Amino acid sequence: MKVIETVAEMKQARKKLRGTLGFVPTMGYLHEGHLTLVQQALAENKFAAASIFVNPTQFGPKEDFKKYPRDPERDLAMLKGVGTHLIFMPTVEEMYPEGSNSWVDVASVTERLEGAHRPGHFRGVATVVAKLFNIVEPTRSYFGQKDAQQLLVIKKMVADLNMNTEVVAAATVREPDGLAMSSRNTYLNAKERQAAIVLWRALSLSREMYLKGERNADKLRQAMTRLISQEPLAAIDYVSVANTETLQEFSQIEGPALVSMAVRIGNTRLIDNIILGS
Ligand code: PAJ
Repeated sequence: MKVIETVAEMKQARKKLRGTLGFVPTMGYLHEGHLTLVQQALAENKFAAASIFVNPTQFGPKEDFKKYPRDPERDLAMLKGVGTHLIFMPTVEEMYPEGSNSWVDVASVTERLEGAHRPGHFRGVATVVAKLFNIVEPTRSYFGQKDAQQLLVIKKMVADLNMNTEVVAAATVREPDGLAMSSRNTYLNAKERQAAIVLWRALSLSREMYLKGERNADKLRQAMTRLISQEPLAAIDYVSVANTETLQEFSQIEGPALVSMAVRIGNTRLIDNIILGS
């Protein structure tokens, strides 16, 4: 496994590889969800690369950039354990040198849900991922369904800008009680960790209702909202039942629906989603 910290060295190392390269961009503090992406990249390509970079441009001024959890040594051991070939771990100065001033703005699909609640977030994500694609030149790139809107934004960017990578989606990896794995779960204390199950319970309720034939999206949103409101430590940012492609809210569900939510548990903001009718 080779660990690389500069753009120039990463480009050089990439050019030396003969064969397909699967790439998993991450912000580190890795868990099983990240490792599943790397394992899929390894299974489907000759080589696998991952990046570890806590990207400042995708955090709002009041968000958790500074306290975002970091443990590069543990991350490297985990990536080595699954057989990753290349790790790109640049500094902020390396990725955004003084005077760096170009941005990738994906319109429309960024306006709702996370985009509405985190202004500028997807501009930061699209910009850093475009830069990483230019540096790493992956044959295939792997993204988790856990961040469903991010996945849509990346797919749209790759299509609109004719980028040379195939975007592959991977299923959300969960804890045994249903909580989606996330680096941010580490912020939760014992009581909050227990309360956080409410996201999965709400998503499961929407699935049960859907399977029983309910197609009125308001009924689903109301039932989920009611359930989450019963948890004293939880505060809802949004609960959505939307078209999986356009993210327009459904009134009556027609075709596949992205059921998604952002819920604050104490000071920790968690997101999760499922797709109904795919
Ligand atoms: P990060 O939150 O570290 O996630 C890296 C990748 O792992 C993303 O594609 C994310 O969707 C996926 N992932 C996270 N939790 C998962 C889970 N429980 N199951 C499956 N996949 C999961 O997302 C980012 O970093 C950043 O925005 C990034 C794309 C790296 C740009 O900075």
